[in-house]
Amino acid sequence: MFKQKKKLQIVEDELRPVQQLIPIESQEMILNQLYQFTELEHLYESAIHEVKTKLEILDSEFKTKYDYNPIHHIEDRLKSPRSIMEKLQRKGKPFNSENARAMLNDIAGVRVICNYIEDIYAVAEFLTKQDDVTLLKTKDYIKSPKPNGYRSLHLVIQTPVFLSDGKELVNVEVQIRTIAMDFWASLEHQLKYKTDSEVSAELAQQLKDCAETIAATDIKMQSIYQTLKEID
Ligand code: GTP
Ligand code: MG
Repeated sequence: MFKQKKKLQIVEDELRPVQQLIPIESQEMILNQLYQFTELEHLYESAIHEVKTKLEILDSEFKTKYDYNPIHHIEDRLKSPRSIMEKLQRKGKPFNSENARAMLNDIAGVRVICNYIEDIYAVAEFLTKQDDVTLLKTKDYIKSPKPNGYRSLHLVIQTPVFLSDGKELVNVEVQIRTIAMDFWASLEHQLKYKTDSEVSAELAQQLKDCAETIAATDIKMQSIYQTLKEID
């Protein structure tokens, strides 16, 4: 058989200093949970990898066929065990890997930053029509922006990951937005975390105004691009 993986050994080593504090009968259970979380992380990391590869292939196909890249860049993040725990607590569910898989759609997150609004819908369509991808949920915050001005297209998709003992279907949250939408969302996110108190109504309105200006610019940029494409 294969030897125990290095990563699992690290988990055991980390537990060792506090081992005397934990009753013997709980130690096995804690180790099991840790193993399961290590496997969970691997599974979701693999799903991120699968989805990013699909997106990169779509982008390079466009470059080859039309000399155009619809995707500006891709980011990803794996939800930390602490965030998983806090979210399960908010939902009133015990913290374990089964609940994490069953209750949370955003353990694996992929963010696709496109050049133009039309690219967002093209990327979403080409990704979700692949026959091993199932679309579970769509939230179109571009057609219906959030009250604070936030815009993006959110999808929850399910993609297969092939492991040694079979196929696992894994949920991945995909956020697709333009560079302009991303610029607003990144700064708004920073501002939200900078201030401990609520943003004042006036500042919230100013932020929303910025979102509207940016959205109008996105539409103008797309129309310039389309005009140039027709002349070409
Ligand atoms: P949560 O993941 O628990 O928030 O639940 P949900 O599935 O209802 O969330 P939703 O699909 O509306 O948004 C999830 C993610 O979108 C967040 O984790 C952020 O990354 C992003 N997002 C949503 N709303 C905002 C917003 O107002 N500002 C910014 N900067 N990002 C947002
Ligand atoms: Mg989330």
